[in-house]
Amino acid sequence: MPPESPKSSGMNTSAPTPANAKSTGLEGVVVADTRLSDVDGERGRLIIAGHDVESLATRATFEGVCALLWGRDDAAVRMALGRGRARAWSKRAGLGDALEATDGMEALRAATAHLRSSEFPDDADIAGAVAVFASAWARRREGLAPVAPDERLGHAADLLRMSVGRTPDPARIAGVDAYLVTVSDHGMNASTFAARVVASTASDTVSAIVAALGALKGPLHGGAPGPVLDMLDAIAVPEGAAAWLEGELNAGRRIMGMGHRVYRVRDPRAAVLERALLRLEQAGVSTPRVALARAVEQAAVGVLRARHPTRPLLANVEFYTAVLLDALGFPRALFTPIFAVARTAGWCAHIAEQRATGRLIRPASRYTGAAPPA
Ligand code: COA
Repeated sequence: MPPESPKSSGMNTSAPTPANAKSTGLEGVVVADTRLSDVDGERGRLIIAGHDVESLATRATFEGVCALLWGRDDAAVRMALGRGRARAWSKRAGLGDALEATDGMEALRAATAHLRSSEFPDDADIAGAVAVFASAWARRREGLAPVAPDERLGHAADLLRMSVGRTPDPARIAGVDAYLVTVSDHGMNASTFAARVVASTASDTVSAIVAALGALKGPLHGGAPGPVLDMLDAIAVPEGAAAWLEGELNAGRRIMGMGHRVYRVRDPRAAVLERALLRLEQAGVSTPRVALARAVEQAAVGVLRARHPTRPLLANVEFYTAVLLDALGFPRALFTPIFAVARTAGWCAHIAEQRATGRLIRPASRYTGAAPPA
């Protein structure tokens, strides 16, 4: 894409293209100034609202990270999220057949699209609704009745409770919070950009979130953690890892949970989620796939290095997302919708930030079609 002046499009091309990346023409194109989060792919550092992800994930709740990203007070956000969940629950009869979709992200996108922006004006309303719809879809898929939200609970506790039907213990609640905080925002990426493009037209937040959900749904963005768990099940024992992985690569398939467009070192969020798993273990919660996951990761690094010696292909966030969400009790079909629940925090913040600029994002394309007849 030829560079447009920042004045006309809000874009400039000052950032470098990551080493070894195959270009889509958009790598490294700066499309926004943001105070929300920063990804340093060379050093493996993620800053969210002025905090390193490692420290934020052990200290903050979902409400806390929303408060930081949205510039609001923790307690007010907690109340608003509870109200948002209750409001979404009261609208469930008006969702048509949205929650009957077999794919969780399709259900979430369709259900969210039913929200009227006038009835869900606040970021917390939409974040609450996404959690209610994701959980209700998971219950329905199992042939179970949906569980009504409990406004008094924190968002993490209520999300797990609505999904699995039991009030969780403090260790599991802390595990859910650690996950939600860790993936709440991640610089510029496909879904965040989609949300900002819609917001830049002065459209409403619900529309922007629906666009973001559509982008996150794709397997190259948010769809990997379920397949990671499938991979661990297929490998079953550490000794089987290398041969299984070689077989996948020989068949022309990618190893899920490995590689990243920006990180050239191990994704820092992988370590954060591994530590969350360790805390669960220490609290006596069973974490059945951790040892196998470590062995498979090690084997995957080895086989990928042998094939791509100059391109670091290491574990990304999805690898340990799969192991953590599984240990917490979420069904694997719900993994990407849970990612969406968390990322709604970041999307809403980016939407507000984009809106505040008052600038329409209007990129350019290069015409490669036929010339009109003379
Ligand atoms: N397994 C096997 N090979 C991989 C790979 C993976 N997970 N990730 C990248 N590669 C290979 C590519 O096939 C390519 O090989 P080639 O040069 O022989 O064609 C090379 O590494 C460079 O890949 P490229 O396509 O430039 O990487 P990308 O920046 O487009 O990829 C991802 C980023 C995330 C899309 C990619 O690593 C991937 O598909 N990972 C698996 C899905 C996943 O975990 N997604 C969640 C991301 S958080």
